[in-house]
Amino acid sequence: MIALGCDHGGYELMQEVKQYLDQKGYEYEDFGCHSTEATDYPIYAKKVARAILSGKCDKGILICGTGIGISITANKFKGIRAALCTDCFCAEATRQHNDANVLAMGGRVVGPGLAIKIVETFLTTPFSGAERHCARIAQMEQDID
Ligand code: RB5
Repeated sequence: MIALGCDHGGYELMQEVKQYLDQKGYEYEDFGCHSTEATDYPIYAKKVARAILSGKCDKGILICGTGIGISITANKFKGIRAALCTDCFCAEATRQHNDANVLAMGGRVVGPGLAIKIVETFLTTPFSGAERHCARIAQMEQDID
C-alpha cells in the first residue's frame, strides 16, 4: 500500500501519478490535499509519515511545489527516509543504497513524463541489502540529538 500526500503545488502532478498507479494496479491511500486551493504541506507529510510508521503503508509519495518542504517535514520522523528526486538515477540509487521509503518530487520542478518514470523506478527498484548500506542506514538515526 502506497501513501500519497501533496499540497496545492503538487496537486496536479499527483493526479498524473494516481492515473499511473491505477493503470499499473498499485494500491494506494490518498491523504490529500484534494484541490489546488492553497494549503500547508506539513499536514500531508505528517499523514504519510504516520501511515508508513504505523505499518498501514509501506511506501509513500509526497509532492509539493519543490518537493523540499514536504520532504524536510517527512524526514523529521524517525524511520522515514524521504528522498527528493529529480531524475531516475537518484530514484534508483536511493532505493538501492538508502532503502528510501518515501519519494518526494516537486510539482513545479519535474514534468509529468519524467515524474512517472521516477515513480516507476522508485517503486520497482529493490534495496540492495548490502551490509555497508544497512550499516549506514542504521547510523542515520544514531547520535543525532
Ligand atoms: C507552496 O507555495 C510551496 O512553498 C510549497 O509547495 C513547497 O514548494 C515548499 O517547499
